[in-house]
Amino acid sequence: MGNSSLVLVSNRLPVDRVVRPDGQSEWRRSPGGLVSALEPVMARSGGAWIGWPGATEIEVEPFDVVPPNGGKTYRLVPVALSEQEFVDYYEGFSNNSLWPLYHDVITAPQYHRAWWDAHVLINRRFAEAAAREAAPGGIVWVHDYQLQLVPRMLRELRPDVAIGFFLHIPFPSFGIYAQLPWRTQIVDGLLGADVIGFQRVADARNFQRAVRRLLGYRTRTGRVFIPESEDKAARTVVVSDYPISIDAKEFRSLSATPSVQARAVEIRHELGDPRRVLLGVDRLDYTKGIVHRIKAFGELLSDGSLNPAEVSLVQVAVPSRERVESYRALRDEIELLVARINGDFGTLGHNPITYLHKGYPHDEMAALYRASDVMLVTALRDGMNLVAKEYVATRADNRGVLVLSEFAGASDELKTALLINPHDIEGLKENILRAIHMPALEQGRRMRPMRRRIAENDVSHWSASFLADLRGARAGDQVPLS
Ligand code: G6P
Repeated sequence: MGNSSLVLVSNRLPVDRVVRPDGQSEWRRSPGGLVSALEPVMARSGGAWIGWPGATEIEVEPFDVVPPNGGKTYRLVPVALSEQEFVDYYEGFSNNSLWPLYHDVITAPQYHRAWWDAHVLINRRFAEAAAREAAPGGIVWVHDYQLQLVPRMLRELRPDVAIGFFLHIPFPSFGIYAQLPWRTQIVDGLLGADVIGFQRVADARNFQRAVRRLLGYRTRTGRVFIPESEDKAARTVVVSDYPISIDAKEFRSLSATPSVQARAVEIRHELGDPRRVLLGVDRLDYTKGIVHRIKAFGELLSDGSLNPAEVSLVQVAVPSRERVESYRALRDEIELLVARINGDFGTLGHNPITYLHKGYPHDEMAALYRASDVMLVTALRDGMNLVAKEYVATRADNRGVLVLSEFAGASDELKTALLINPHDIEGLKENILRAIHMPALEQGRRMRPMRRRIAENDVSHWSASFLADLRGARAGDQVPLS
């Protein structure tokens, strides 16, 4: 038993251990929405964060982190993975089985029994680490698809702690989920939690249907009823949607910083002061619809709707899962497409697409958001998409247009964006043109309600409402039905 009253458990820590070519190692910020959302939660509450340190075959002792923007010191507790475990548990089961399955089989998932065995083994390792770290009667909050067995395992080790689980990605409809050879074990693993949170109402419903079909338990809105069995008492599990968000204040104040505003002007200048700047920011992932977006942009150039000298598309593609074959193939496809379009429509002084295969710190991102007239979020399937929210929070000037896929969770809240179906290339092209030509008045009319929504439902609201329900569920209080 440990002494942390709040323990977060996620596959990744917010920093990766990276070995430089000269053999020295350093810590770098990890990619992805999960880390962006959880960092402010830890800085606010303190506690311990259990996760993998991003490199294999190393043992790293727990260490304290002082949040760079202020807040409470928290403790990082690394969980080690061997190279083979990384291949089977992370690249295999997490990113070749569950990730494509949960994103509506955009690419075909693969199922291997050896990957599943590693998944069980590593989930147990995380559960044991959490059991060691949590204070008596404390809270353990487990995150995301890599660790769905942890709640059940932890409940068996530490029945005294309150266990929450939040899924950052979609939960698929039963017709798709049913493919998974270990579908029942995963649902049962999740039901070890007291509260299970999803991004969208639809995800929570899909999960409840899976519970009914696979385990025959009774459900109603917001609840799963687990009947008494030989060795277990009857219990109720709260199942609800808690749309995740960002530290809206941080992005708002960054956008007001003179250096960020000056950098935004400089970025436009570096791009050749085009009339319109369009922006895409994604992990390089097949769920993000990057190819659909670039294809639509290329067609607008080739059919003469856009003048290549007057527009710039900046595509930031953050490197991700680079050894997984489907990610390598996607990178090749994107880079070929970008090179073709620039080859066809570029000049010595100007390329219509600026492609950047790297990640940037928040201040540079804020400047990019401020420099862009149009933000393109064209995900084919996405749990939430925090980039869309960051763009909105940064546009304190009430300018700029968000083009947003209806398949991203963010579209449930950001209803005054230009909502698109990314598979419909003609519709996407029309909306890109509409965004490019949108009068300032309409931009403001659409941006304001979205900014209000994100200012109210920011990441601290998200974590506070989840944790309040978790405390309530544990105390046996009536958690309000959603
Ligand atoms: C998404 C997932 C996270 C994951 C992140 C980065 O946001 O929901 O769980 O950490 O992508 O992916 P990676 O595989 O690099 O951790």
